[in-house]
Amino acid sequence: MHQEIEFVFRPEYGFDPAPVADAFSPGSISSVRDFHRTFPQYMPTPLVSLPSLASELGIKRLWVKDESKRFDLNSFKVLGGSYSIARYIASELALDPGRLSFDHLNAADVRDRLGAITFVTATDGNHGRSVAWSARELGQRSVVFVPKGTSDSRIRNIAKEGAEVRETDGNYDDTIRAARAWMDANGGVIVQDTAWEGYEEIPTWIMQGYAVLMHEAIEQMADDGGPTHVFLQAGVGSFAGGAAGLLARHYGADRPRVAVVEPSTAGCYYASALAADGDPHDIGGEMPSIMAGLACGEPNRLAWPILRDHADLYFRVSDEIAASGIRALAAPRGSDEPIVAGESAAGGIGILLSGAHAVDGSAIREALGLTASSRVLVVSTEGDTDPGHYTRIVNEKLYQASWE
Ligand SMILES: Cc1ncc(COP(=O)(O)O)c(C=O)c1O
Repeated sequence: MHQEIEFVFRPEYGFDPAPVADAFSPGSISSVRDFHRTFPQYMPTPLVSLPSLASELGIKRLWVKDESKRFDLNSFKVLGGSYSIARYIASELALDPGRLSFDHLNAADVRDRLGAITFVTATDGNHGRSVAWSARELGQRSVVFVPKGTSDSRIRNIAKEGAEVRETDGNYDDTIRAARAWMDANGGVIVQDTAWEGYEEIPTWIMQGYAVLMHEAIEQMADDGGPTHVFLQAGVGSFAGGAAGLLARHYGADRPRVAVVEPSTAGCYYASALAADGDPHDIGGEMPSIMAGLACGEPNRLAWPILRDHADLYFRVSDEIAASGIRALAAPRGSDEPIVAGESAAGGIGILLSGAHAVDGSAIREALGLTASSRVLVVSTEGDTDPGHYTRIVNEKLYQASWE
């Protein structure tokens, strides 16, 4: 594939903010964060400022929220898996969701009342690892389906958390269907990071869990005036939708410009924005991309209206753009600190680099409205979740961009 970046502006639909956005008010997400705080592993992940890279990019400030440090799990995903499983258990046992805590859910009487549950999910890696981890922490079992071609190291990491891992023959969206079929035949509770007709509660809890990282970031940026621009990667869009919902509710009319980032081969939000009819649009078939976590072709129906109404630009980028971002964070400029950002984590940095260095970079800067006073937040959503491949991207310059 040759290097490319394409983008569309959000057409002005003028729709009301999606009703689900109420779930993303600062107060709601603050109480989700109170639940996460009850885990012994909980700490806000670092928000790293990179002044030397910011000056290379011609902007005032560049912050990277480093989710490789989340719970020793190398990605942000556990925020959603743990909260949704906790809320499910609370609803089964009629517990007060406002008083959820890890210790309480793990108490012997709660375990006795609950009995044994099998949590089932489909994943491209990180979500499955987070569900497996959460199920094990709460003394339950999990079965995790992965698409054809999932890397061995990602499968091993899920199995290490005690899950039974099953590889399917299809892509991510087919794998969800396989997990649902297995559950229909064998029982269990599906914990999926996307919604469908009649299945909305658990995906909403997952999106609220993810929004906690933005809650932390808003707090961490507060002394510096907050961001003017935020880049959010999208697979099914649950992360981007949750984060954009909180940004919209927190900053209101002063919210930062939000850019959604997807792989060129899996741009279902890009396609939905381009279609301009206000509806989500699916993409099917093979979606080859090094950005495994973003290779999803069907927008989450709960996330789409939030992004439609609260995001501004939709990028789809080739592997070279993501790889250039990985390398820039791995080999820092000046006295900036290095950050380990995996394939699905660095597209936003790649777009910024492209804006600064590519031949047609000025169009990107203009579309984003980037100036010397811009303060930009990117979320590095994973570390080296496929370490062998990560090392090759960094050391062998796989997927080299034109300006490198
Ligand atoms: C590292 C990483 N970043 C971003 C995403 C995108 O999240 P979502 O599928 O909710 O859009 C994923 C999803 O698996 C991921 O693993």
